[in-house]
Amino acid sequence: MNPGTAPGGIRFDGVTVAYGGTVVLDRLDLTVEPGEFMALLGPSGSGKTTALRAVAGFVRPAAGRVFLGGRDVTALPPHRRGIGMVVQSYALFPHLKVKDNVAFGLKAHRTPKAEIPGRVTEALELVGMAAYAERHPRELSGGQQQRVAIARALAIRPGVLLLDEPLSALDARLRSGMLAELARLHRELPDVSILYVTHDQVEALTLADRIAVMDRSRLQDCGTPEELYRRPRTEFTASFVGNANLLPVTVTGEGAVRLGDRPLGVLAETGTAAAGATATLCVRPHLVGLGDGPNALTGSVTEVQWRGSTHRVHADVDGHRVMADLRELREPPAIGDPVTLHYATEDAVLLPAGAGAGAGDPTEAGP
Ligand SMILES: Nc1ncnc2c1ncn2[C@@H]1O[C@H](COP(=O)(O)OP(=O)(O)O)[C@@H](O)[C@H]1O
Ligand SMILES: [Mg+2]
Repeated sequence: MNPGTAPGGIRFDGVTVAYGGTVVLDRLDLTVEPGEFMALLGPSGSGKTTALRAVAGFVRPAAGRVFLGGRDVTALPPHRRGIGMVVQSYALFPHLKVKDNVAFGLKAHRTPKAEIPGRVTEALELVGMAAYAERHPRELSGGQQQRVAIARALAIRPGVLLLDEPLSALDARLRSGMLAELARLHRELPDVSILYVTHDQVEALTLADRIAVMDRSRLQDCGTPEELYRRPRTEFTASFVGNANLLPVTVTGEGAVRLGDRPLGVLAETGTAAAGATATLCVRPHLVGLGDGPNALTGSVTEVQWRGSTHRVHADVDGHRVMADLRELREPPAIGDPVTLHYATEDAVLLPAGAGAGAGDPTEAGP
C-alpha cells in the first residue's frame, strides 16, 4: 500500500435510499473487498448512481449503514471519507491547467503545500498524462480529459475509487483504449477498491473481478463475470449479462424438464423446483448447435443474421424463439426451412420462472 493510502473496502449494510417517499435503492447488501474491482451493472434508473452517492456521502440513506475500510461512515460528510470519485461528465475546471486541476483535490484535502507537486506528478504518471501537465482541458481529447479526471481522483491516494459511467461520453475507439487503461490502473493499484457503475455489460465483463447486477432498485445477482455468465440465477441476469435463450418449461424430475411435450435436460444442480413446477430453461446461443443431438429442438427458421464470425439463426420451436450462434456455416439455412438445433445438458441451467420469459434481446451486442 502507498504510504498515506486510505484503507480500502466498501460495505453496504441494508442501505436504503428514498426520494420523496419513493425507494430508489432497496436494502442493498454488498461488500467490495480491499483491492477489488466491482462493477455495478444495470439498466438506466436501477439505482446505481444512488448507491455510489451513498458511498461518497452525497446522499443520506433512509436506512442502513455504509462502511469504508471497516469503519462506519454513514454520518460522515463527503470530504472526510477519503474517496476518489469520477463522474460521467468529467467536469474539469476549464480555466485551470491539468496540473492545477489535479492539485485541486489535494488542496481541498489540506495536503502540505510542499508535497503537492510530487503528488500531482505521481497521479498524472499513473494515467500516462504527466507530459500534459501544462495544458488546459480544451487542449485535450475527451479520453485525455477523462484520464485527468481520474488522476485528480487518485491524487489524494484514496482507498476507494468510485467511477460513474466514466466512458459513456467517449466514442467507441477511445472507449476501448480506456478499457485497457482502466484494467492497467487496477493492476497498478492493488490496494484500491474500485466501484464502477456502468450499464454496459462489455465494460463490466472486461474489467470487473465481480459484477453486482442491479434492477429496479435492487441487487439481483452478484458474482464473477464467469459465474454470472455460466450460472445466472435470474432471468434478468441471464439476459442482461450476455444473450440468452429463455424457455418456459415444466420440471419433471431432477435435471429433467418438458418444453410443451418435448423432454429436455438441464444441469441437475441448478434446478431446485419440485416436479410439476414451472421454471425457465436458460441456454446461451453460442452453446446451441445445428443438427440432431441430445436435447433436440425441431422447428423452422424465422431469421438469419450474419455477424461476421457467426450466423445467428432464429428458429420457432413450438411457438418459442430459440437463437443459435453458429460458426463456420458454409450454407446458412433459409427463412422457412425446417431446422433441428440441440444443446448439451450441462450447458442449460434452470432459473425460477420470471415475469417475462422470452428470448433475450437479439439485437444486443455481447459475448
Ligand atoms: N435527486 C433525486 N431526486 C429524485 N429522484 C432521483 C434523484 N436521483 C435519482 N432519482 C431517481 O432514482 C432512481 C435511480 O436513479 P439512479 O441511481 O441515478 O439510477 P442509475 O444510475 O442506475 O441510472 C431513478 O428513478 C431516478 O429518477
Ligand atoms: Mg447513473
